Amino acid sequence: MKGEPELFNEIDLDKYESLKEAPENEPERQYYYMAKCRELIGLIEKKKGRKLTVYNLVVGCQMNAKDSEKIQGILTQIGFEKTDAEETADMVIYNTCTVRENANLKVYGRLGYLNSLKRERPDMLIAMCGCMMQEKHVVDTIKEKYRFVDIVFGTYNIYKTAELLYLRLTGGNMVIDIWNENKGIVEELPAVREYPFKSGVNIMYGCNNFCTYCIVPYVRGREKSRTSADIIDEIKKLVKDGVREVMLLGQNVNSYGKGLEEDITFAKLLYMVNDIEGLERIRFMTSHPKDLSDDLIYAIRDCKKVCRHFHLPLQSGSDTVLKRMNRHYDQERYLGLVKKLRDTIPDIAITTDIIVGFPGETDEDFEETMKVVEEARFDGAFTFIYSKRTGTPAASYPDQVSADIVKKRFDRLLSRVQAIASERISAHQSKVMEAMVEGMDDHLEGYVTGRLSNNVMVHFPGDGSLIGKIVPVMLKESKGFYYIGEMV
Ligand code: SAH
Ligand code: SF4
Ligand code: F3S
Repeated sequence: MKGEPELFNEIDLDKYESLKEAPENEPERQYYYMAKCRELIGLIEKKKGRKLTVYNLVVGCQMNAKDSEKIQGILTQIGFEKTDAEETADMVIYNTCTVRENANLKVYGRLGYLNSLKRERPDMLIAMCGCMMQEKHVVDTIKEKYRFVDIVFGTYNIYKTAELLYLRLTGGNMVIDIWNENKGIVEELPAVREYPFKSGVNIMYGCNNFCTYCIVPYVRGREKSRTSADIIDEIKKLVKDGVREVMLLGQNVNSYGKGLEEDITFAKLLYMVNDIEGLERIRFMTSHPKDLSDDLIYAIRDCKKVCRHFHLPLQSGSDTVLKRMNRHYDQERYLGLVKKLRDTIPDIAITTDIIVGFPGETDEDFEETMKVVEEARFDGAFTFIYSKRTGTPAASYPDQVSADIVKKRFDRLLSRVQAIASERISAHQSKVMEAMVEGMDDHLEGYVTGRLSNNVMVHFPGDGSLIGKIVPVMLKESKGFYYIGEMV
């Protein structure tokens, strides 16, 4: 209908196919390349007598997940069918993460596997993209040791997927396109969502915080907020297309709005999103404690669609370590925020991220982390062993902690955070809460899996017709980190 927002999933590619030259302007340029790729892929389809398939693997955070939905959107327009069967896929694309070393190592392992696949099927296409590709040493290694890779691109130019594929299909060499900065992201592109009923929405890109252990600012660039009008428009389109829950995405959503001409904060944005008719749930990821304002806490309290879950990464409980991490808050400020959140919104679940073994972390420092864990009583925590990332300041700190000490601390921390989380979660037993049904249960026949507002999962008897709906569920039995329930 005229005047109503539409998604970009039905671009009239025929209009672009006949153009003699690629338009200079975006997104038209990409529409043109989608049309051109569709033509070329169509010829291969005819020869093979079937559709071509793509295996689209994504690791890392929600930003990467969102990026991969955009990549899949482009590939679907071109004519690829999504498949879970990597070994027979005509195209394989990996969207990589490099936040910790093990994510990185896994990719090299998989590249070895892809090499063996490609030896048997030389016409398969292999593309690598995402955060890891923004590191020069990675691209150098691919150029040197993994010559069979067809396309390499980074985090700033995923919207060019069609153009790069076209270059590869019409030329002979590996296509590498890595940018060093965010030159402006083209948003008017198709996407294939993993879930029809929920979606991530980028509200900002990049990060300016430069925590000394973290590689994200180097691979995702400087912080850049989208205008509230663009964000609201995208969410309205999504809602029209069946989305009931959005997750507002940014590395530090609390500093949303800085650098924009409009007078806006994350708190104000939440009120605006909360007003969107048809939308039922709002989540966000991630909040940095240094920028968490009272206004934001009140906004969460007042906006009924905002879920009762706050992820507030602690990283360390020690003031010395926090300083060396460049986090700009101390233990007292952090615990003050937890208290304020719980006093203002009593049913809120607070989860966190903690790093163990940051360079120079002493036994006393670690005890401070344990102290915060006891006092904050997190509903959940992701615990990580510090991983040295080349190029970050902490990588060259002299006092790296030995692996066996780190392991001991890590195990102790993990068992405490698990015990506390399980106690906190179990406290809801016998309550009735609303769950958004996300899918059929993988383990229990005849059960569905739902997510509560506080982010805890509940499994209960039900069928596929419930998927995407929000239903009241009685939490019958706590299993520690999840519930078995029954719809009421
Ligand atoms: N922007 C988010 C975090 C993104 S990375 C924030 O600031 O909260 C997700 C988590 O990975 C971080 O919270 C941190 O706990 C962990 N992490 C990041 N770099 C790491 C490293 N070098 N070693 C171990 N864990 C790391
Ligand atoms: Fe990394 Fe810190 Fe930015 Fe989070 S806020 S992405 S931990 S630099
Ligand atoms: Fe990983 Fe990149 Fe996210 S490094 S955590 S996928 S921003």
